[in-house]
Amino acid sequence: MSYPDRTDPNCGVALEPTEDVRSSPATEATFGEVAAARMGRRGFLKGAMGTTAYAALAIAPASLLAACGDDETDKVASDPAANAAQDIEASTYQPGSLARFTEVSHGVSKDHVVAPGYEADILIRWGDPVTADAPAFVPGKADPDAQEKQFGYNNDFLGFVPLNEAGTRGLLCVNHEFTSRSVMFPYDLRFNSPKELAETEMAAHGGTIIEIAQKDDGRWVMVPDSTYNRRITARSTAMDISGPAAGHPRMQTSADPAGTRVIGTLNNCAGGITPYNSYLMAEENFHFYFRGKLDDSDRLWRTAGDLEAACAAGDATHPEARNYCRYGVAMGGGYDWGRHVDRFDINKEPNEANRFGWVVEVDPLDPTSTPVKRTALGRFKHEGAESITNRDGRLVIYMGDDQRFDYLYRFVTDGMVNETDRAANFGLLDTGVLSVAKFSEDGTVTWMPLVHGTGPLTAENGFDSQADVMIETRRAADLLGATPMDRPEDVEPNPKTGKVYVALTNNSKRGPAQRDAVHDRAPNYWGLIVEMTPPDGDHAADSFSWDILVKGGDPSVPVTGAQFAEGTSANGWFACPDNLAVDPSGRLWVTTDQGGGWAQISGSADGVWCVGTEGEDRGMSAMFYRVPAGAEMCGPCFTPTGDTLFVAVQHPGTDGALAFDEHARASDFEDPMTRWPDFDEAIPPRPSVVAIRKEGGGLIG
Ligand code: FEO
Ligand code: CA
Ligand code: CA
Repeated sequence: MSYPDRTDPNCGVALEPTEDVRSSPATEATFGEVAAARMGRRGFLKGAMGTTAYAALAIAPASLLAACGDDETDKVASDPAANAAQDIEASTYQPGSLARFTEVSHGVSKDHVVAPGYEADILIRWGDPVTADAPAFVPGKADPDAQEKQFGYNNDFLGFVPLNEAGTRGLLCVNHEFTSRSVMFPYDLRFNSPKELAETEMAAHGGTIIEIAQKDDGRWVMVPDSTYNRRITARSTAMDISGPAAGHPRMQTSADPAGTRVIGTLNNCAGGITPYNSYLMAEENFHFYFRGKLDDSDRLWRTAGDLEAACAAGDATHPEARNYCRYGVAMGGGYDWGRHVDRFDINKEPNEANRFGWVVEVDPLDPTSTPVKRTALGRFKHEGAESITNRDGRLVIYMGDDQRFDYLYRFVTDGMVNETDRAANFGLLDTGVLSVAKFSEDGTVTWMPLVHGTGPLTAENGFDSQADVMIETRRAADLLGATPMDRPEDVEPNPKTGKVYVALTNNSKRGPAQRDAVHDRAPNYWGLIVEMTPPDGDHAADSFSWDILVKGGDPSVPVTGAQFAEGTSANGWFACPDNLAVDPSGRLWVTTDQGGGWAQISGSADGVWCVGTEGEDRGMSAMFYRVPAGAEMCGPCFTPTGDTLFVAVQHPGTDGALAFDEHARASDFEDPMTRWPDFDEAIPPRPSVVAIRKEGGGLIG
């Protein structure tokens, strides 16, 4: 997620980007400046420059634009077809095992662009019917009951659960992270913000499960009357709460005195499919949805800065103030649902925000099943939840907490994955050990357990039980001295190699004194990918080794400190890695989220890159697909055969890409910068799932 692309209709102020809600107290450097020496032994580096030199120059993003800009590829064609043709780079690196495709060029355009020889088909769009009784999409209308049955907004995670051995039928599990009101609805709705608008937004959040099938010509279609087709929403879907925090008084509300059942899920960003084909939905920026007062101020309107100051000064008096300050709950900006729905007002329902920020487990094969929030996996701004069965049979789940200076987590189940009795696995995620990562300059990463009664996690520090540790996971991790990371997003184990990849998106707030062995660029505008290697393939081990795979940015501009392998083309580098996927052959694929305005950093829209991790291809990267203007690239997901890559185009046409020459003005419902994918004057841009296949069939890449 970049940030909810919304302008508060009542004050006309653009909402603050998510990661600017500064709530982590972890500001001290954890290690010395050793990264340059440590990384210097790598032979593949191109364009690497001492970070001290970079920091000393204090280059601003706008300055880098001029250095990175490419006049040819930045041009925009008004005809999508013509645009696609001009955005293919004919001569690019095509190494033996990395990528056998011709790269897409960097650039910004109204249409998406895929490598030549590939087809990119729209599978499903916001508003398309999901259930058999769903009405047709009506642009510009806020209709919560219709939205409950239609495809939600801002598709993010995509997971595929096969329904046959050939992998030609399956369930596509889709997260709907947030809504982009400015391009979804006309001005009068945005300005008046009636209850039905809030309710429609709530219904556009959550998830979708649809059955899809591959036709004889290779194309994928949704099966419209499948009984598997299902919407999960923030507005209506009842969910159980399980694990250590279930039933705790801090989880109880007036609607749920038992603290075991909650309506809905929020900000479902990335996720995961477990080895037993359950669907994990990660609740990320849940804080945006709550409003109210954390302190006793009687001021009608306060800025995020005011509230941050109140938190810092200890003036916040809400019963959950310490907790909510750490997570940024009700600290400014965000949705106005609390005007209409009491449970999103922290003064009317003080504990409701404790019931979000979890990982939700869904059984996609049972459309009547009740989703379960698994509190043993901790409460934070969960980006994703990718898992792997450890060599001893336990399930290991890797999770990032996507905020500047927050942490990387791992959960190891107590029980084993049952490969013969699928039903026996539901409950596996309720008992186990959640740990947080501490990276050391000697190349090791240590997993520190978050267990009540051990170390500082005691009543003396406000943790009376494991429930408290899980509800305030961040504060517990603070006390253990976890390594503050530059926005840890997707964390992807590679089952072919046993290694684990961590996408660190960026951190413009990291200062020179906060450099450490992992984060040796301060500020870190371009992000990086860290590789972790468990010893002997043991993902439950107390300690791994780590290394850096690539550092984002343009390696031809040394001041960026970017690191890609020698030979990576002018289109092969990227900025701000977010989601990761491993294809069936074990190759790593990376998608990017440069965020609001950050498209200007690279001079290019977000997209998909194939990145080498082994041998001569290590650190090599090649661009495969590019999103339309204003969008973010999410959800890379391969079918088991590797012949299809599904991707999720999120928030096309939003304000983030004002560098887009053809539309250098605000983008909204009335005047969007693109109307992808319909290109119909009556239809706004629509987040959509895209199915990418090789023409005539064959493996992707
Ligand atoms: Fe929703 Fe961290 O991206
Ligand atoms: Ca993300
Ligand atoms: Ca992933």
